[in-house]
Amino acid sequence: MKDLRSFLSTYEDAFPRDVIRITKSISSVHECTAIAKKFEKVGKYPLVVFENILNSKGVKSKFPCAINILGDRNKLAHAIQSTFENVAIDWRAKARKKIAPEIIQRQDAPVKENVFLSADVDLLDLPILHIHEMDPGPYITAGMFTCHDPETKTPNTALHRGFVAGPNEIRCFLAYRSHAAFNLSAHEERGQEMKVAYWIGHHPSVLMGAHTPMSYPESHYETAGAVSGAPLRLVPSETLGDDFLVPADAEFVIEGIMKPGNRKQEAPFGEYPRYYGPQRFSPVFEVTALTHRNDAIWHAFMVGINNNYGGTQEEGAIYEIVKKAVPQVQRVYVPVSGAGRFHAYIQLKKTHDGQPKEAILSALTSSYMIKHVVVVDEDIDIYDDRWVLWAIATRSQWDKDLVVVPGCMASPLDPSTGHRGVGTKGGIDATKPAPPKRFPMTLSIPQDVMDRIKLEDYIDKDKIG
Ligand SMILES: Cc1cc2nc3c(=O)[nH]c(=O)nc-3n(C[C@H](O)[C@H](O)[C@H](O)COP(=O)(O)O)c2cc1C
Repeated sequence: MKDLRSFLSTYEDAFPRDVIRITKSISSVHECTAIAKKFEKVGKYPLVVFENILNSKGVKSKFPCAINILGDRNKLAHAIQSTFENVAIDWRAKARKKIAPEIIQRQDAPVKENVFLSADVDLLDLPILHIHEMDPGPYITAGMFTCHDPETKTPNTALHRGFVAGPNEIRCFLAYRSHAAFNLSAHEERGQEMKVAYWIGHHPSVLMGAHTPMSYPESHYETAGAVSGAPLRLVPSETLGDDFLVPADAEFVIEGIMKPGNRKQEAPFGEYPRYYGPQRFSPVFEVTALTHRNDAIWHAFMVGINNNYGGTQEEGAIYEIVKKAVPQVQRVYVPVSGAGRFHAYIQLKKTHDGQPKEAILSALTSSYMIKHVVVVDEDIDIYDDRWVLWAIATRSQWDKDLVVVPGCMASPLDPSTGHRGVGTKGGIDATKPAPPKRFPMTLSIPQDVMDRIKLEDYIDKDKIG
């Protein structure tokens, strides 16, 4: 069975030093963020389970809260049985092989072990994190938001944050180009309320699958099954009708409705580029039910800290689009250092001097988020910013190697963009000239010496680090 707890246990068995269980009492208001920030300062993103967490009322929650479940690329790779290098491409390839979900009976669904209807729900009892100082309060950050297209009834699922404004009120941010926003306006045009659900806490491969970008309207439940490798088990909702299906093995499901035109203030919110996003009028999710498993585990994303999840997702799309234009592409990496979304490093086995610019132009069209592209040769480790910067330092001349495209659509969350997210995109060709042109040789020492000389044969182990 693939669920959050099965992942936690297999991951902890495989990487015991990367799972930290904090048993000491800690507040959900900023204190968990402080722990995550301190780890980030030393370049670590362990999976942390806060077992005794005070909720936003200052009362010990019945539930633990886990962060960094998808906190770094190794965890993403482990979740879908891939590797650090191949995870983005494998994620995309698996998603393509859709697997239809399986509908099960209520009595067989773990998420129905505890059922509370609206008046009995108090979301503020949950260990929901209040992450940054200017955030207005606790936010659901790893909530998979499911709603339907009113015409075809196709479900749509994606991550959409939710400000928990009261015991049974959530204000959700649905970006205007998101499919959830399309669904909401389609309901509003018909004067109908929209049925909605958040599901929180599932096997990360299910999250990755359900979060695969799709066309509209298309169900993400099928990609969830494909990426996790088994049909996603679904069960009818409690209050939204039997045709509104939610994941049976999620830790929590929150059900509710959005009434036409009902908007309230939401944010500022600490966003992934590490700046606060503006306050908005966001749709209100009126809670009709909360269901959860016994001993349920809350899942939170530390938005604005280790924010490479979205970037890794983009990589598969960039790779495919660049591969069409330049088959010599070897690898693509969207580094955390580029706010996790704005930079793309492309590694080429260059055979023609025009290829890097071709790769830059195609990568820039892969997503409005990708702002700067750096193209390097195959001897550069694209997963290490230092070597990409070294390639820029020693293999580029900007009068001929720079591409600048002003007036593009850009992320409105990039504070350097102009009006409504209009920005300049560009790229740097940091490659050597294509063969047979000559370029100075990089430094080397004989490989047999590298293989033979081991630090531990010469230096105390504790000094090696
Ligand atoms: C961690 C994380 C949090 C996100 N939060 C939001 C959000 O609050 N609102 C939003 O509209 N999109 C958010 N997104 C982006 C959407 O989930 C993403 O664009 C998704 O593909 C949209 O799905 P759709 O194509 O079905 O509209 C988030 C993405 C990630 C990775």
